[in-house]
Amino acid sequence: MNGVLIVTGASRGIGAATAIEGARRGYAVCVNYRRDAAAADLVVARIRDAGGRAIAVAADVSFESDVLRLFETVDRELGTLTALVNNVGVLEQQMRVETMTADRLNRIWTTNITSAFLCAREAVLRMSTKRGGRGGAIVNVSSAASRLGSSNEYVDYAASKGAMDTLTIGLAKEVADEGVRVNAVRPGFIYTDIHASGGEPGRVDRVKTSVPMQRGGRPEEVAAAIVWLLSDEASFTTGGFVDVAGGR
Ligand SMILES: NC(=O)c1ccc[n+]([C@@H]2O[C@H](COP(=O)([O-])OP(=O)(O)OC[C@H]3O[C@@H](n4cnc5c(N)ncnc54)[C@H](OP(=O)(O)O)[C@@H]3O)[C@@H](O)[C@H]2O)c1
Repeated sequence: MNGVLIVTGASRGIGAATAIEGARRGYAVCVNYRRDAAAADLVVARIRDAGGRAIAVAADVSFESDVLRLFETVDRELGTLTALVNNVGVLEQQMRVETMTADRLNRIWTTNITSAFLCAREAVLRMSTKRGGRGGAIVNVSSAASRLGSSNEYVDYAASKGAMDTLTIGLAKEVADEGVRVNAVRPGFIYTDIHASGGEPGRVDRVKTSVPMQRGGRPEEVAAAIVWLLSDEASFTTGGFVDVAGGR
């Protein structure tokens, strides 16, 4: 075994691909999800069928009590945490900033930012050598949107990813001499269900000609970068960003 990995939001998309690739590399994996138990169970079944170890844990990571329960479940059922992927991220109906309500903004901040801080906190509490831990690695799933701004679609989502980038830089420095590395990936347009929640399931095909490589990406292409950042091959990399965006 390579250690114990939590992937938040792993019932589908980039999170599911990361959980499967992590298990292939030898991690015991916690597949976190919010609602879709059947989808999470399928990811766990794929991992177990391939000889890996995995559990599914329902927890809405925007709630502190759920985050605490998620991490305590992993302590109990899988053992000492060594890796966290803060993958949960949501967006809402495409619109301009001038029509966004406070309720919408707070939902985005809580789900995309607060959850990442809370999960990072629980991971550091377990990994930091200053707290008796054995070290570990955190990867935040940001977005190319943090660089580009997502005008006319979801500037709120893009701004939440900017916060995630800053979390990556600041936390990386805070725990660099405590055995914990913190990095981020910034995916571009990836074929997943997230675009449907913005009201445009076919978005990647519409916009792919704006990508220098002239195509959208696959979840597995993002997972490969995440798992590399978690691994010892990235042992001197912290506070770093890997763009997985086809040159965009
Ligand atoms: N796809 C892209 O083009 C793209 C580009 C850049 C960045 N990203 C980022 O990549 C990450 C994954 O995106 P994706 O496209 O794979 O998303 P997705 O297909 O929409 O999947 C989202 C996952 O997160 C879970 N989830 C949502 N809210 C949750 C919560 N509060 N607590 C726990 N789980 C929750 C969902 O579980 P349930 O189904 O059970 O709710 C699902 O497993 C996100 O951070 C996203 O911003 C995606």
